[in-house]
Amino acid sequence: MLNWDDPLSKTTPTAATAIPPSAEALSAEAQAEPQSLAASYAASETLGGMDFDGSSLEDKGVVLPGSMPEETASTPAEEQLAEKAMEGIERDQTEIADSLAPVKASDKRVINGEADVNQLAPFKYPWAWEYFLNANKNHWTPLDINMAQDVQDYQHKLNDAEKHVYTNVLAYLTTSDILAMRNIGLAVMEKMTAPELQIYQARQVYEEALHTWTYQHCIETIGLDQGEIYNRYRVVPAIHGKIKLANKRLDSVMRSDMDLRDPDNLNDFVMAYIFFAGIFEGTWFYNGFTPIFSLQRRGLMKGTSEQLQYIMRDEVMHASFGIRVVKQIMLENDVTLDPKAIREMWDESEAAEIAYAHYILKDPILGYTAEDHIEQFRFIANRRARQLGLEEPFPNAQNRNAWLDEQANMKKEKNFFETRVTEYQTGGALDWG
Ligand SMILES: [Fe+2]
Ligand SMILES: [Fe+2]
Repeated sequence: MLNWDDPLSKTTPTAATAIPPSAEALSAEAQAEPQSLAASYAASETLGGMDFDGSSLEDKGVVLPGSMPEETASTPAEEQLAEKAMEGIERDQTEIADSLAPVKASDKRVINGEADVNQLAPFKYPWAWEYFLNANKNHWTPLDINMAQDVQDYQHKLNDAEKHVYTNVLAYLTTSDILAMRNIGLAVMEKMTAPELQIYQARQVYEEALHTWTYQHCIETIGLDQGEIYNRYRVVPAIHGKIKLANKRLDSVMRSDMDLRDPDNLNDFVMAYIFFAGIFEGTWFYNGFTPIFSLQRRGLMKGTSEQLQYIMRDEVMHASFGIRVVKQIMLENDVTLDPKAIREMWDESEAAEIAYAHYILKDPILGYTAEDHIEQFRFIANRRARQLGLEEPFPNAQNRNAWLDEQANMKKEKNFFETRVTEYQTGGALDWG
């Protein structure tokens, strides 16, 4: 049983070993005079007449129920104290009236806003609140999914090429998700000036951490060498290439001293956000699960795939939220993008993806090739470009894996929720388009 005061301690008695109160004690408690409401209130608030610093309340002159003195006269010092308190209250009221006008929704802006960021409503961006509510419908933990068959599959059914795909996809994803968590939490969220946007992004930070837990759970359960797999992005050039590119595009905005009223800084931020939402999350992540889904389609590594389906649904929301936010920033701040810079972004992302695909699929696996992966990258990139209001970067790209979108639209057929005490609502009713 978890000891909530000290969660790592193992000494808390369990329900089975805890000593029950004796019959005499229970009967004495039942016969005791019921406390008056006021007395029980005082007891519960003050731990039985002691204040939280351990001194007696009576020492401090607090009058407890049942000990009311007949008459008390104020001393001059007490009167002075009361007068000062009244002056303070009056001064605060004047300050409030002078400086704090009520927040209007129309005052809010995505960035560079002046409205109080501690006041949630009225909403200017009600869709952001909807994202938060919907995100909470896709709730799971990696422990909910049975991984026993995956251990068998990995040890006895996957060939070397399939193991190579599986481990490298995990190595890439786990590094990427840490990067995603840091970017949204440290570079993006703190620059938002409307709390309804920050609330969803706070959830997103948690989800990225949950994704990292999920990969770690898979890596641990399958029994992979953690020191080796977590270092892979540092020693495998094709994995390193994608991470390096992401760092190059995101690191420059991961500082709080950026002045988003400066047009150059603002342009850097918008370009970084477009890369993050449109490519890093919207294309690389979305398409990044596919090699493992291709194993699932042959009945292999189904536990891992189910984990990834839940992650994918989060990522679809992250990408579409980010795209919406960055479009709103461009609208509110009249940002014009340089088409050459956009083209360069697509080209270098494609080049990194081609190198990655040729590495993870250097030996093709049944039903999935490097060419499939690369073409699917281009097809999804076109979709994100349209959502961003940009030209398609790869006209005529083919949808090689039409089944991929079905993975994002997973319905409740998995039914592991039914095995749980709490029936979470899944996102089956959501429109993931
Ligand atoms: Fe993630
Ligand atoms: Fe994400």
